[in-house]
Amino acid sequence: MKEIPEEIKKEIEKLVKELNYHNYRYYVLDSPVISDEEYDMMLRRLKELEEQWGYILPDSPTQRVGASPSEKFEKVEHREPMLSLDNAFSIEELREFDARIKRLLGTNESIEYTVEPKYDGLAVELSYKNGVFFKAGTRGDGYVGEDITQNIKTIKAIPLRIEGVDKVPDEIDIRGEVYMNIDEFERINKERQERGEPVFANPRNAASGSVRQLDPSITARRKLHMACYGIGYYSGIEIKSQFDFIEWLRKARFPIPAYIKIARGVDEVINAIKELERIRQTYPFETDGAVVKVNDFELQKRLGTKTREPRWAIAYKYPAHQGITRLINILSSVGRTGVITPVAILEPVRIGGVTVSKSTLHNWDEIKRKNIKIGDYVIVERAGEVIPHIIGVVIDRRTGNETEPEAPAHCPICGAKIVREPGEVALKCINLNCPAQVEERIKHFASRRAMNIEGLGDKTVSLLHERGLIKNFVDIYKLKQDHLRDLPGFAELSSKKLIEAIERSKRTTLARFIYALGISQVGEYAAKLLAEHFRTIEDLYHVKMEQLIKIPQIGEKTARAIEQFFNNEENLEAIDELKRMGLTVENPDYQEKEKPLPIKGLTFVITGTLPRPRHEVQEIIEQAGGRVSSSVSRNTDYLVVGEDPGSKLTKAQELGVKTVSFEELLKLIRQD
Ligand code: IVH
Repeated sequence: MKEIPEEIKKEIEKLVKELNYHNYRYYVLDSPVISDEEYDMMLRRLKELEEQWGYILPDSPTQRVGASPSEKFEKVEHREPMLSLDNAFSIEELREFDARIKRLLGTNESIEYTVEPKYDGLAVELSYKNGVFFKAGTRGDGYVGEDITQNIKTIKAIPLRIEGVDKVPDEIDIRGEVYMNIDEFERINKERQERGEPVFANPRNAASGSVRQLDPSITARRKLHMACYGIGYYSGIEIKSQFDFIEWLRKARFPIPAYIKIARGVDEVINAIKELERIRQTYPFETDGAVVKVNDFELQKRLGTKTREPRWAIAYKYPAHQGITRLINILSSVGRTGVITPVAILEPVRIGGVTVSKSTLHNWDEIKRKNIKIGDYVIVERAGEVIPHIIGVVIDRRTGNETEPEAPAHCPICGAKIVREPGEVALKCINLNCPAQVEERIKHFASRRAMNIEGLGDKTVSLLHERGLIKNFVDIYKLKQDHLRDLPGFAELSSKKLIEAIERSKRTTLARFIYALGISQVGEYAAKLLAEHFRTIEDLYHVKMEQLIKIPQIGEKTARAIEQFFNNEENLEAIDELKRMGLTVENPDYQEKEKPLPIKGLTFVITGTLPRPRHEVQEIIEQAGGRVSSSVSRNTDYLVVGEDPGSKLTKAQELGVKTVSFEELLKLIRQD
């Protein structure tokens, strides 16, 4: 390794320290003190230095991503078991818990407790040695979990080095909950739904699925958070109570629970729980209760644990926002990519102050799995901001008059046959002209990166679609200035401009055109790959999956979607109509298959007058892999001889270079 100058070392160390601090300001405190640009500039400088000198600190922010996917999770042992919690479902049970503790401790005095939110996520243990993060594991069975070190590193709120405290512990295992905010959960589910992938049932499953990922780059793309609330094995520091520990975590720059209160005696506990029940509604994440812990670590030790739960803590569960009502019917709604989602129509019921009369059922598999029938009484839950969902059926209330719901065979909007991709849960309507999808498809078609029709933005498309002027993207090209002039916001000039832009868009590339078609699974990248392999759009008509999966990077799912699209006559008819209206598709991306080069590496010289102009002959030779030189030498392989040859022929004969006529040259090229 290169000798690193002391000042470079110092600069790297300073950058890591500063970047980590700003990272903490941003992700933990939510109050940055520098701009994103400044942060990026510092990070870029650090990357440069690290690359140049190979000096990378373990807590460098550059080490948060970049690990490659693994085959399976390694195991991690917890040095202290990770326990679960007993539940209390009522204030009564909470009082019993307090009484039990007093009895066990042999005291009548009020006990000091802490009250914290119960995060609904995935319990994780972080291990630090000499203040540096080195390992993370899931809870597993409490004794052995899975090694998720690489994934955890991508969570920016988790410090890679313990800083800010007077004394850094030699070793410490810190426990907490990894969770996902509700808006991130909804964003991911929307994306999955559009791609026809199974959706996560709740933010907890989404967080857990994101952490237990063999590919850390997927974890990195999901916004995950952590709240640290517990301590496992530790040495080299002294901590007296839960409250002090949370204080210590705060100083050490760890993300801590959004709420922690000391409560003396059970009545104060109850007050805190009530306060938290109100506050938790404002949190962007889900909590399902409050955790009550005996504050003093010494007392915790005296109380000890049962097999799986400590005696010194309990989870008070808030009543879930649930209700029971009758399922009247199941309808289907069609999303913009054609995904058909079942929607439950419910007898209106009030849950948590809101009237619920509809709920999503995610997909038809879920209906089967939950054994839901029309007419059933179902348990509906409204968790946080999330759209209500059906958790299950009250089987006892069945009368026998319930009917088996049936997945639709035809699109409820356009009547086209619905397809289901094997191995997929989503049902789909793949009719391009389906009105439910049309507006969104047209917007996509006209968008900048697709056909790039300037002036035909989302609002204009909506307007034209509403007025019945465009029913599909073919109609765009049938628009006349007369149609536009009277529309709100369309003066003479802008309608003229739009017509011109539409006209201009007729000349496009195959990659853009394929992307514009909005084939499911086919984004810009896949469109470009297709353009590289198929010269024209017609070459894709009736294409078969087998052909498509030969293209590296095109997976089975994408191949299937493409096959389905181009095997649909209506879709082909729409494309043909566009072409009849003047669509010209160029394909600069097409990569000709490697042609045979029969005269590769051979050198030719030309003399005399040939049946074709000299430059053409040269091109013929070069296209077949040969080279053309202007004078004969020992390196010449053939002299191509025409009429009235010059001195080159004599020279060739002297050197014993073979001569060929133009016809013989063509034979040479064709034969091989
Ligand atoms: S303390 C020995 N505190 O709830 C104490 N747990 O149902 C056990 N949880 O496994 C952990 N928020 O995953 C504790 N503030 C909090 C918590 C919390 C959520 C989870 C944790 C635990 C589960 C038990």
